Amino acid sequence: MRILERLDALYAIGGGPGANRPHPSAAEDEAHELAAGWLREAGLEVEVDAADNLFGRAPERPDVWVGSHLDSVPRGGRFDGALGVAAAIEAVAETGRGSVVAFRGEEVGCVGSRALCAGDAELPSAFLELHVEQGPVLAAAGVPLGVVTGIVGYARGELVFEGRAGHAGTTPMDARDDALVAAAEAVLRLRDAAREIDGAVATVGEVSVEPGASNVIPSRVRLSVDARAPDAQRLEGLVSAIGLEPVQRTEPAPMSAELRHVLREEIERHGLPAIELASGAGHDAGILAAAGVPSAMLFVRSLNGGVSHSPDELSSDEDVLLAVEVLTAALARLAT
Ligand code: GLV
Ligand code: MN
Ligand code: MN
Repeated sequence: MRILERLDALYAIGGGPGANRPHPSAAEDEAHELAAGWLREAGLEVEVDAADNLFGRAPERPDVWVGSHLDSVPRGGRFDGALGVAAAIEAVAETGRGSVVAFRGEEVGCVGSRALCAGDAELPSAFLELHVEQGPVLAAAGVPLGVVTGIVGYARGELVFEGRAGHAGTTPMDARDDALVAAAEAVLRLRDAAREIDGAVATVGEVSVEPGASNVIPSRVRLSVDARAPDAQRLEGLVSAIGLEPVQRTEPAPMSAELRHVLREEIERHGLPAIELASGAGHDAGILAAAGVPSAMLFVRSLNGGVSHSPDELSSDEDVLLAVEVLTAALARLAT
């Protein structure tokens, strides 16, 4: 099947293990060039906007957009973002309706969709995004597809700890001001704060230690913080419990009731139950929804326990092909 081969081709860019197309990078550019070739092959009109987002427009109803992103986290999975773009090409080519969009830099804060929404570009009349679930809910329910109710809000920033550098061999334990020990305690406090709030999560994914030598007591430590919660009140509670001053914040984004209804009906038309679930991951659909664009997301079941942002990310070929069928049917309805 063409879409499965295309997912393989995108996955191979940047070299393994896993997907390695971070934003910005030559690998992300290469993925956009490859996708632009597929758009031309499909007879779509190719455009690149001021933020380097890629579009492939069909003659009918180019105001209805379908797509996702082509960047990845380091050592990411085969499907995250890539599936939504490759599937959108199938859906727009099949129906001759709508526009494919491949956004830049979703993994580092939705750079492309944010830039587009902040500018004076014309926004779509509707946006559909197919994505892997990246969690265990659909597999546990035994269903291949689901419809997203809304996307969590998230806040990102840094916590910085200052200490005093010293000799690792000669400074007694009770005479130290070790910045990494203070940071380690903060990581545990952050975990506990998130556990206290229903539906909240918080992650330290990057640690930088100065001066960074095995025989020197750390004098300065920087922790990255990614904090998420399903609604604005819980997000605010988490941010203040952690003591974070966010440098980036995205409000929780409900998906369009009307578009969700269309996706549910199309899933049911395929003889399947239409389960709805919230998204704990951020998505371009959340940025567009926050800008007032009616948006909806179709999730495809993740296997391997729902693992994502990992080379172990997995969805079955059958589920992917089914998802493309439902996406295509939904687009045909929305872009009449
Ligand atoms: C994007 O994948 C995110 O939720 O961090
Ligand atoms: Mn993604
Ligand atoms: Mn991702």
